[in-house]
Amino acid sequence: MTGPMRWRRMPMEEESPEEFGYEKIKANLAESSMRDRTFKELDAKLDELVLLYGDHRGHRGAREILATEARVAADDVLLCAGAAMALFVVHTTLLGPDSHLVVVRPNYATNLETPFAIGCDTTFIDLTFDAGYRIDVDVIARAITPQTRLVSITTPHNPTGVETDEHTLRALVAICEERGCHLLVDQTYQDMTDQAPLPMVAGWSDRCITVGSVSKTYGVPGLRSGWLISTDSSLMTRCLAAKEQIVLTGSMVDEALCFAVLQKRAQWLPGVKEHILGQRAMVQAFMRDEKRLEWVRPTGGVTAFPRVRESVPFDGARFYHTLQHDYGTMVGPGHWFGQPDRCFRLGYGYPTASELSWGLVAISKSLDSVG
Ligand SMILES: Cc1ncc(COP(=O)(O)O)c(C=O)c1O
Repeated sequence: MTGPMRWRRMPMEEESPEEFGYEKIKANLAESSMRDRTFKELDAKLDELVLLYGDHRGHRGAREILATEARVAADDVLLCAGAAMALFVVHTTLLGPDSHLVVVRPNYATNLETPFAIGCDTTFIDLTFDAGYRIDVDVIARAITPQTRLVSITTPHNPTGVETDEHTLRALVAICEERGCHLLVDQTYQDMTDQAPLPMVAGWSDRCITVGSVSKTYGVPGLRSGWLISTDSSLMTRCLAAKEQIVLTGSMVDEALCFAVLQKRAQWLPGVKEHILGQRAMVQAFMRDEKRLEWVRPTGGVTAFPRVRESVPFDGARFYHTLQHDYGTMVGPGHWFGQPDRCFRLGYGYPTASELSWGLVAISKSLDSVG
């Protein structure tokens, strides 16, 4: 493909709660994050912050915290305006029309859409319900060609909440090292796991790239603060050049607040996890009783990806319309992820317990009305 980037809006963004209007939604089960926090909760004292162009790689203190965690150097960390920008920088730095990408599907939409906009040759690795949405390393290995520049996965996975285990991840790293391509692991949900989180893979090999952000676990997506991490210094120089050409430097305000959030993580995380487990238990009870739905039970993130059983009569357009307009409940339809609308993303971290309860009843009632 030649010509300009093939920009088009993603359904996930066009139909998002913020575009629809938060005030019109009673139960927002469409989000993939914790409930949004207020500025006040950050306890950040910004009155003396000097609004100069900052460090080109991003706030030094924030980078040091992340570097220590990833077991890399502070200069191996590049702060970006959200994981979204970090993904854009990685994709546009490594991929062009002549290169080949191997990427799992379903996935967070940007991980599929930016490669589409670039026009690179793409092999989709379809994760299936029947395989528990787990990654098969051999399938990925067979998809890699001499033109492959990047293998791209997400764990904990959006939309399913399924995690890739360390053994599988290490096998993928070994394959990418052997075949000479990079491995992008979108670890945006890294801290949201039942067991201890996997480390940032960027610390394992210079072939690995970790992308992450404070948005989801800490409920601050409006900060637009994320990062990419890699010990491949040549790659990092090019990523830094990309950042400089996009924004020069990050927002001093956002980066100072990102630093404040990173310092608050240990204090906030127990409450976050308690909320996630309580909410997931509600969803689990619902899934046990709602026989028209089936799912792969998630162990990470704050989303699940249930589907309406094939045997159940289903009109997707009517179901989502009824749910949204009659019951004020929003979920993420399958087409946001390039999947059939019998599947939907159910975000259980964002709503309060009573909103979630309302939303789950609304799902059943909407199924009644289209059955
Ligand atoms: C897997 C994944 N990566 C990246 C992002 C982007 O997040 P942000 O730009 O807010 O950090 C999202 C948001 O939904 C996501 O689910």
